Amino acid sequence: ALYGVVLAGGTGTRLWPLSRAGHPKFLHPLTGTDASLLQATVHRLDQLAPIDRVFVVTGVAHAAAVSRQLTEVPEENVLIEPSPRDSCAAIALAAAVIARRDPEAIMGSFASDHLIAQKEQFTAVIEQAMSGARQGLLMTLGITPTRPETGYGYLECGEVLGDGPVLAVREFKEKPSYDVAESYVKSGNYLWNAGMFVWRVDVFLAELSRQQPQLAAGISRIAQAWDSPAREEVLGEVWPTLPRISVDYAVMEGAATVGRVGTVPGDFGWNDVGDFHTLGEVLASDPAGNVVVGRDPAETTGVLLRETENLVVVPSSGRLVAAMGVRDLVIVDTPDAVLVCPRDRAQEVKSLVDHLKETG
Ligand code: GDD
Ligand code: MG
Repeated sequence: ALYGVVLAGGTGTRLWPLSRAGHPKFLHPLTGTDASLLQATVHRLDQLAPIDRVFVVTGVAHAAAVSRQLTEVPEENVLIEPSPRDSCAAIALAAAVIARRDPEAIMGSFASDHLIAQKEQFTAVIEQAMSGARQGLLMTLGITPTRPETGYGYLECGEVLGDGPVLAVREFKEKPSYDVAESYVKSGNYLWNAGMFVWRVDVFLAELSRQQPQLAAGISRIAQAWDSPAREEVLGEVWPTLPRISVDYAVMEGAATVGRVGTVPGDFGWNDVGDFHTLGEVLASDPAGNVVVGRDPAETTGVLLRETENLVVVPSSGRLVAAMGVRDLVIVDTPDAVLVCPRDRAQEVKSLVDHLKETG
């Protein structure tokens, strides 16, 4: 069986003001049910990983909220980072802790902020990826691209390995420029990296040592102290010295150039809930295309829409939100901030947040 590692970090700035440092997007029920993205991610693994093999890596600021939402996950499986060091450190910590228990374990790493519509297909694709992982590959899941998105990683597909469906990956390119992304999509030979990985922990840790020796050495020191009284002390000393880098740049790009990356193309209704427009695309709408995102469906009674079209409304303050005669807007109401913008500019919310950070 699989060890499932769920990454619960990052704030999701393009979902401001709903998602913010104190209450990041994975804690929110953006799934169209009352489960949070984090809870949905853990539930999605139930055919693959027994619950004692499910780990969550999260920051000290969110550990209590994470444990409250995931009462079924054993407490010692919630790995707490003293500060955010991006995804490579988080994944490496989980791999090293799991390796102590099971040196050849196969682990899957899952982002906690994606929606996946078809759980059966997802489960089947992960099982296929596990077969690639057993052969020593660092496995990715590949999504057919639909636009030149610059926020994703791209996988150049190579030959079919064995009887398939595993493909070799010739190149892993994280976040290309728009022009490059456009040429990839046109070529038809690239897939999006879904941001989920499956590999043997020993294979990953060896590749980490090769490419990121400092990070690997730090993680190894932490793992050695993990079950001892010195854990907190070593963690506090070593963690802040770890390079702040994502696993895509730190390991995957370089592993692909030496032929150690594979992919399984998958179609399971994947959606990276990056911004309010995208969220509106995946949740159920009324006949006029309006989507109301609610903690639970009953709470959406706090919305009054008249002659509106294509709105994404997030009523999250308890106040009534009313709109009339408008279309193609995002309207987010929270207790201390309100956002209104055109749906096709929802990506730019990040720049508002950057501005707020700069001006305090
Ligand atoms: N625990 C922890 N600590 N988790 C973290 C940290 C951290 O410091 N930083 C990021 N993560 C988690 C995020 O919560 C998310 O679940 C995952 O790692 C990916 O981080 P993002 O910051 O969302 O990455 P991205 O969206 O820019 O890019 C990744 O995902 C894309 C698909 O959504 C890459 O893997 C791309 O290649 C990929 O296309
Ligand atoms: Mg992301």
